[in-house]
Amino acid sequence: MTRGRHVLHICTTCRPPDADPAAPRDGAKLFGLVEALYRDWPGRADVALNPVECMSGCDRACTVALSGPDKPGYLFGDKQPNAETALATLELAAQYLASDLGDLPRKERPEPFRRGILARIPAAPPSPGSLSLTTLSREKR
Ligand code: FES
Repeated sequence: MTRGRHVLHICTTCRPPDADPAAPRDGAKLFGLVEALYRDWPGRADVALNPVECMSGCDRACTVALSGPDKPGYLFGDKQPNAETALATLELAAQYLASDLGDLPRKERPEPFRRGILARIPAAPPSPGSLSLTTLSREKR
């Protein structure tokens, strides 16, 4: 297991496009459900729970993301604000924490997270000098 700062991000401002603007946000509902489980969650010491306002996946509400040291970051969308998703969110965070490379194979993810992946962002290199010239020249295109 890789120790260090891992973060579970949940957008609290997500809502479906046709939602009543005056109604409570689905994202806030999902965050509240996860937060209630998180209080007694064994992974709490290693994974911070971070409420955020928008992760630019607004048309795919609700969004959930994971980030960790030397691991790729993930952004998931289309999550329902219910108890099943809340439980699955913490299961996914536990898988991410347990994986040294941050791999989250689709078939091994909790069911609500087998669909709706919006981004898998490569981990930052240890230092700028570790990028190859080929990589750098591609980035300038
Ligand atoms: S409002 Fe949730 S991603 Fe933009």
